[in-house]
Amino acid sequence: MSDSPREQLSRQLAEAVAEALRADLARQENALLVVSGGSTPVPFFQALAACELPWERVQVTLADERWVAEDAEDSNARLVRAHLLQGSAAAATFVPLTTADATPEQGAEAVAERLAGLAWPASVVILGMGGDGHTASLFPDSQELSLALSTDAPAVAVRTPSQLQPRITLSADRLHQARRHVLHITGGDKRAVLARALSGDDVRELPIRAFLACPLATYWAP
Ligand code: 6PG
Repeated sequence: MSDSPREQLSRQLAEAVAEALRADLARQENALLVVSGGSTPVPFFQALAACELPWERVQVTLADERWVAEDAEDSNARLVRAHLLQGSAAAATFVPLTTADATPEQGAEAVAERLAGLAWPASVVILGMGGDGHTASLFPDSQELSLALSTDAPAVAVRTPSQLQPRITLSADRLHQARRHVLHITGGDKRAVLARALSGDDVRELPIRAFLACPLATYWAP
């Protein structure tokens, strides 16, 4: 049975990311990959995990994380460990964003030091996009959005618009520190949102706009 469009897209993206990592590893000791969570990336993680790479020299961290236990169903760290890093030498240097601290604000400060030790600028930052135009955990009109867009701190504690779920997100400053940016989007419902973002809506309404000026490859499947 032929692959679905999403599976074909995931394989193409995995091959492109593997190529980018190989290119950077040809001139530096380590290469950093920053990935997003949610449901879209799972087939991409599986396809990338199957690529031949010196995984012991590949560092991985997250663009954002929900403030939940690392074995929780909706943990992005759990997703990455299960589908990208399972049995991989890269698991040893994976930097999750949740910490043992009591609050996400303390966690964002605590994780800053571990993030600083990674091979910035990242080889690739992979961003998803929600149906409201959020990316990472930079949500429209959230009270912490201005901070996340302006701070030079690497990570910021934020709340989802529903205030239900505390999160940690890399700041826009940190997410910009990459040689390559990729938008990995699935869902036909998002086509109109991206078109609005491309046509010029304000970054507070559509935070994905903060990254559309980057040299960006877009991988899209309905
Ligand atoms: C997260 C992601 C988030 C994601 C979008 C799109 O933690 O949920 O980092 O920014 O990329 O919500 O998610 P889907 O691609 O699964 O719709």
